[in-house]
Amino acid sequence: MTRPIDPLIDRVLIDEAQLDARVTAMAAQISAHYQAQGNLVLVGILKGSFIFMADLARRLTIPHRIEFMALSSYGDLSTSSGEVRMMLDLRRPVAGEHVLLVEDIVDTGLTLQYLIENFRARHALSVANCVLLSKPERRKVQVQVDYLGFEIPDVWVVGYGLDYAERFRTLPYIGVLSPSVYLNS
Ligand code: IMP
Repeated sequence: MTRPIDPLIDRVLIDEAQLDARVTAMAAQISAHYQAQGNLVLVGILKGSFIFMADLARRLTIPHRIEFMALSSYGDLSTSSGEVRMMLDLRRPVAGEHVLLVEDIVDTGLTLQYLIENFRARHALSVANCVLLSKPERRKVQVQVDYLGFEIPDVWVVGYGLDYAERFRTLPYIGVLSPSVYLNS
């Protein structure tokens, strides 16, 4: 069943079928790469990655465990404070494991840069990242994205886990938020 487009969404940027196909392809690529390596841990960055993480993890064909971390760099508004803070750390150490960071979107790159730095001290066998969306025009620091879903333009997107002020996370597609939402808040 297709849900009607929310009136606060300007347009659908990536629909459910496109998300499904891309996440399936990414999972196949990741499974092929880590097949021979063993000891894979997916680290989902909350909250935005939770739906992507659930879909990706269920399509992997290799054993893995799941961890989550929560970081914060945005308040309720769509502007970055530029400061990344850890709100929730891993429950178990990752020393001796292959870490795959799972992120919803890379915007300025500051969050991913923080994560890459932070994992240097954790003695993982390897650290790579898997990001659903990237806005290359917005980059403030250069970070390497290892597995990327889609490049998108500089627009505020919501749905499939991504929010605006905690709203719209459960839309089944990636939609462009109507500017009327943030111009009126
Ligand atoms: P960065 O540190 O600037 O790369 O920002 C990464 C974080 O900003 C993401 O994990 C999201 O939480 C948030 N973010 C950036 N752009 C968007 C967007 O268009 N929609 C929803 N969240 C976004």
